[in-house]
Order: sequence, then structure tokens, then C-alpha cells
Amino acid sequence: MRLTLSAVSLLGFLLAAQASSDNHGHKDASCGSSKKIVKGKAFDRIIQVWLENTDFEAAHADPNLQALAKEGLTLSNYFGVTHPSEPNYVASVGGEYFGINNDNLFRVPRNVSTVVDLLEDKGMSWAEYQEDMPSTGFDGFEFRNPTTGANDYVRKHNPLIIFDSVASDPSRAANIKNFTLFEKDLAANQLPQWIFITPNMTNDGHDTNVTFAGTWSRGFLEPLLKNPHFNDHKTLVILTFDENEGGAHNRIFTILLGGAIPKEMIGQVDDSFYDHYSTIATVEANWDLHTLGRWDVGANVFDFVAEKTGDVTRTPENIDTIGLNVSYPGIFNTGHLAKQPVPNTKLVVNGRTVLPAIQKEWESQVECTGYFGQLVPPSALTPPPVPSGC
Ligand SMILES: *[C@@H]1O[C@H](CO)[C@@H](O)[C@H](O)[C@H]1NC(C)=O
Ligand SMILES: *[C@@H]1O[C@H](CO)[C@@H](O)[C@H](O)[C@H]1NC(C)=O
Ligand SMILES: *[C@@H]1O[C@H](CO)[C@@H](O)[C@H](O)[C@H]1NC(C)=O
Ligand SMILES: *[C@@H]1O[C@H](CO)[C@@H](O)[C@H](O)[C@H]1NC(C)=O
Ligand SMILES: *[C@@H]1O[C@H](CO)[C@@H](O)[C@H](O)[C@H]1NC(C)=O
Repeated sequence: MRLTLSAVSLLGFLLAAQASSDNHGHKDASCGSSKKIVKGKAFDRIIQVWLENTDFEAAHADPNLQALAKEGLTLSNYFGVTHPSEPNYVASVGGEYFGINNDNLFRVPRNVSTVVDLLEDKGMSWAEYQEDMPSTGFDGFEFRNPTTGANDYVRKHNPLIIFDSVASDPSRAANIKNFTLFEKDLAANQLPQWIFITPNMTNDGHDTNVTFAGTWSRGFLEPLLKNPHFNDHKTLVILTFDENEGGAHNRIFTILLGGAIPKEMIGQVDDSFYDHYSTIATVEANWDLHTLGRWDVGANVFDFVAEKTGDVTRTPENIDTIGLNVSYPGIFNTGHLAKQPVPNTKLVVNGRTVLPAIQKEWESQVECTGYFGQLVPPSALTPPPVPSGC
């Protein structure tokens, strides 16, 4: 582990945060595809593929996922952040899930930024490919197979369309497209640098099981990994699940694949603590982006990337007691409402500051923030701290 100057400044901040949050009884301060390619420190392109609702052990036992694991790096302590599906997808791009505790139709207010704002700030291209989405930028609740009536596409598994800062901007909504266009963009050598793929409800295991999802994943990924149009530019693929089947621990099987993985790590296991916020943190570290000032700031960067960026990989006090299984209060929580959370515009991690546009929008309310760079994100049992007077 290397302690850089800026990591030290985060630690200094964390200590201050610890002191103040302890006063409130809080204990957890542990610490456009035509664009040019922006080089990253450990990879030049990232593709996330999300499967559904499977316990770590069940996925680990699946022969097709095992075969893929041998070709990549397994993350054995990667966690979903709550239940059910939708808040996990929201968290993966927003650094926060706003208390969501069901799969209803939500619209996150326009003044909330996402990873898209961070990428576009550096002029980087991005897209989502959603299988069976009926039209580009479609913001409806679902789309059923016209012949069989079976589940095809669902909005709850489409993270960015849930954010009004994306959905209500036509140039952004144009990047949320049908999965069929993935093959087309690939063939034209026009895949963007940040990609999120959601298979349909059959292929992702939601309406089937891990055997089906594992077969689909291997069938999709193995040819791609051999395709130089795809596996060039130091590509990183993340194959993960949104959540486990509902148990307390919410640990999910995650494999990192692609040319970006150092040769000596192929077939190995990384047991560092990660969660869905780690993927945003890794993207930020790799391209030296700004941050959202939310749970992305404290999350561990994937270790093989952290070694290149100088980020510090931290260890939670007791990984066995982590129960990211019930949503904490928020603007969308059906049981316990809480105010819209304020990003901590002052956080700095390894030299990365909060996006200037976010600072401008929120700095006047920063005394009400609950984000202090915590490593383990909150859950219903350990909700985010609320400073007094807020
Ligand atoms: C953000 O937008 C929501 C919904 O429009 C509003 O209630 C909230 O006050 C806004 N917050 C800020 C800081 O502008
Ligand atoms: C969307 O993709 C599905 C297959 O995933 C295809 O059957 C359908 O025609 C596509 N629809 C559009 C509008 O491109
Ligand atoms: C899901 O996609 C596959 C192709 O990958 C297709 O055969 C299947 O019909 C789709 N599922 C549904 C419910 O339409
Ligand atoms: C998944 O379902 C298929 C078909 O019903 C079955 O053959 C397979 O054993 C199931 N897999 C698991 C892990 O239960
Ligand atoms: C959530 O996790 C905690 C800690 O592991 C556990 O005590 C609790 O029973 C779990 N709750 C549910 C609803 O699974």
C-alpha cells in the first residue's frame, strides 16, 4: 500500500469527519463514440454486464461462470448495496440510491449528477445497451415480448434512464439503446469507453436461473474476448450480479475479464472489500475524473487499478457483519422518508475533487452532508449520519 499526499489529506478529512459524526452517534467512519479515446492508467474501456439475483455460492458453482473465472480475476468480497434490484442499479451510476426499497418507476431529480457528468467532463463517450429495449431513449416502465407476453426489457434494470439529468436530455438519452446496436457499434469500431449492458429478463437469470445466465454470459463474452475490435485498448469487463437472492450478507460473485487484467492475475482471486460504488470509484481513479461526492468517494478502487493510480485499498473492521440488505431512509423510501442527500463538496480522495458543477449546485448546503468517505456504505441498520440542525 502506498500513502500518497492526497490520500493522507483524505485520511485527515476522515479523522475530522469521525470526530464530528461521533457526536451524532455514527460509528462508521472507517475509513458519442466519435470522440477520441482518453487513455486510462489501467484500462481504456470498461464494460459492465449485470446479471440478476444469485447468491455468491450458487454463481461460484456454475460451470460456465467457473470457466470465465479461469480467464479473469475473481472478486470474492464484492457486495450488492441493498435489496431489491432497482436501488442497486441506481447506485451503480449515481453513487447513492435515495432510500429506494422497491422496483417502482422512479425519476431521480435533475439536480443529481451521475457518472455520465464525470465522463462528459473529460470528453469521454459512453452508452448503455439494453436487450429488447423497444426504442432508443425509451423511458417506459417495461416492454413485453409482443408474441409471448414474456418479460423482455424493464426500466428497473436500466440505471441511467432513472436519472432525469440523463433521461430529459435528448443527446444523452440517445446513448441508451437496444442491445442489437452493440454488435453494430462493435463492427464499426465505435464502441464507447464506458458501457453498461443489461441482458433481457431471460438471459440475466431473473426469470430463469444461474445456469441460464451463466450459459448466456459465456456465450456472449468468450467470442468477444477473442475479438480484437473489442478486446483492444486495454479493455476491462466486469461481470457481476445486482444482488444476492435476498439473504443478509448480499455478497455477489464478480469476475473481471479482458486485456486490462495483468497476466499474472488471470485465474486468481482478489478478496478485498468492494461494492457497486467501487466500480464508479475505479472509473474515477483510472481516468483521473472528478467524483460525485457521494458513496463513490470512500469505496475501494479495484486493487489492480489502485496499484497504478496510487489509491489505497482499505479493509473493513469486520467483513462478516456487513449486512447491506435493507435500504436506509430516503426521498423514495416507502417506510422512512429522509431529505435529499447533499454531496460532500469538500471531499478529496487521492487528489480527485468533486465535480465543479456539483460543488456549485450543493456547496451552500454542505454542512448537511452525510458523506464522509466511509468505506462501508450505510444500510437500514447503520443509516447515513444526519448532522444536527439538518
Ligand atoms: C433538487 O431538486 C429537487 C426536486 O426538484 C428539489 O426538491 C431540491 O430542493 C433540489 N435541491 C437543490 C439543492 O437544488
Ligand atoms: C431490439 O432488440 C431486439 C433483440 O434484442 C430485437 O428483436 C428488436 O427488433 C430490437 N428493436 C429495435 C427497435 O431495435
Ligand atoms: C431474450 O433474448 C433472447 C436472445 O438473446 C431471445 O431469444 C428471447 O426471446 C428474449 N426473451 C424474451 C422473453 O423475449
Ligand atoms: C436451472 O433450470 C434448468 C431448467 O429448468 C435446470 O436444468 C437447472 O438444473 C437449473 N439450475 C440450477 C442451478 O438449479
Ligand atoms: C440484514 O443483515 C443483518 C446483518 O447481517 C441481519 O441481522 C438481518 O437479519 C438482515 N435482515 C434481512 C431482512 O435480511
